[in-house]
Amino acid sequence: MRLVAVSSIQENVFLAENVLNSKGQVLLKSGAKLTSPILQRLQSLGITYVYIEDGRTDDIYIRPVLAEGTRREAISVMSEAFNQVKKDLSAGSTKFNLHKTEKRFAAVVRDIISQIKERKEAIDLLTHLYAHDDYIFTHSLNVTIYTLALSMRLKNLTAKQTEEIGLGAMLHDIGKMMIPASILKKPSRLTNDEFDLIKKHTELGFELLRKEHGLPLTTAHCALQHHERLNGSGYPRGLKGNEIHVFGKILGIADVYDAVTSNRVYRKAMLPHEGMEILYAGSGTEFETAYIEMFRKAIVMYPTGLTVWLNDGRKGIVSGQNEYVSDRPILLILEEEGSNLDVPYKVNMAVETTLFITETDTTLSAI
Ligand SMILES: [Fe+2]
Repeated sequence: MRLVAVSSIQENVFLAENVLNSKGQVLLKSGAKLTSPILQRLQSLGITYVYIEDGRTDDIYIRPVLAEGTRREAISVMSEAFNQVKKDLSAGSTKFNLHKTEKRFAAVVRDIISQIKERKEAIDLLTHLYAHDDYIFTHSLNVTIYTLALSMRLKNLTAKQTEEIGLGAMLHDIGKMMIPASILKKPSRLTNDEFDLIKKHTELGFELLRKEHGLPLTTAHCALQHHERLNGSGYPRGLKGNEIHVFGKILGIADVYDAVTSNRVYRKAMLPHEGMEILYAGSGTEFETAYIEMFRKAIVMYPTGLTVWLNDGRKGIVSGQNEYVSDRPILLILEEEGSNLDVPYKVNMAVETTLFITETDTTLSAI
């Protein structure tokens, strides 16, 4: 299979992977013929990339990070808890009932940790396969996976702390349930007042979570601090350097990375290596440099299925990932000196160290 932009697909090719909504339900099954009305529907759902069948790339496949059941349980427990908050709020209550779901949250975090632990290769979340219907749940789950993947590489976090930051990541944006949806989903530019209101989700989430005695207090601090930045440019308190809790620093990286690499109503997703450039731009000023370096190793830079060009002019498709070297994948070479090869062959960039990727399929990342 190969990864292509919906906007550049020729009609009547076949889909290679299911297209899903945020709950993991199938919107379009693999094998479906992509006719012009279907392509339009995909675009209206905000899906910008899909995997298609291609006779030359049949043996390229991707192993999802999470088992289907885990993804479903994670989304289900989040939507139950978040909607409970909304219900309590509209009933005029200032007390919330998160304790009903606390055990399920802890269990699903442990489940996610064990699946990341088992995984040898870097993380590719295939965010392009999901419609942006219930963005908050997909986003919270992605942030949890990125946060855990980074935390588990940091030697000084204990197993207990790793579980705590996982919980904090799942609930970091819960304060958004108290912000009007019309502002959260506004496709145009926010006014200063609207942006100030959105910023409040940090403190609102903190107030809500700190009263939940079954949750560690650090969970509330994750909600409060995930928009703080090293140089004091963040919010709500403009904390600097080590005034920011380690959990807040890690979460800030995972949150920004997922935000820029996901499809949103107002812009298309960036590719992983482009998202990484955004983080590097804030390295040492907004984000801890050592964490960014660690994060780069934990995630896939060039997703499997992506079309790339090499410094020697060859063109290929990313066909697999190497352990520990996320920016040097395995490629299936399809073109040499501008002409198609009859017999494509593989090149491992971790072995051939003089090679580097000069270009990726830019139609995928056009904003
Ligand atoms: Fe947030």
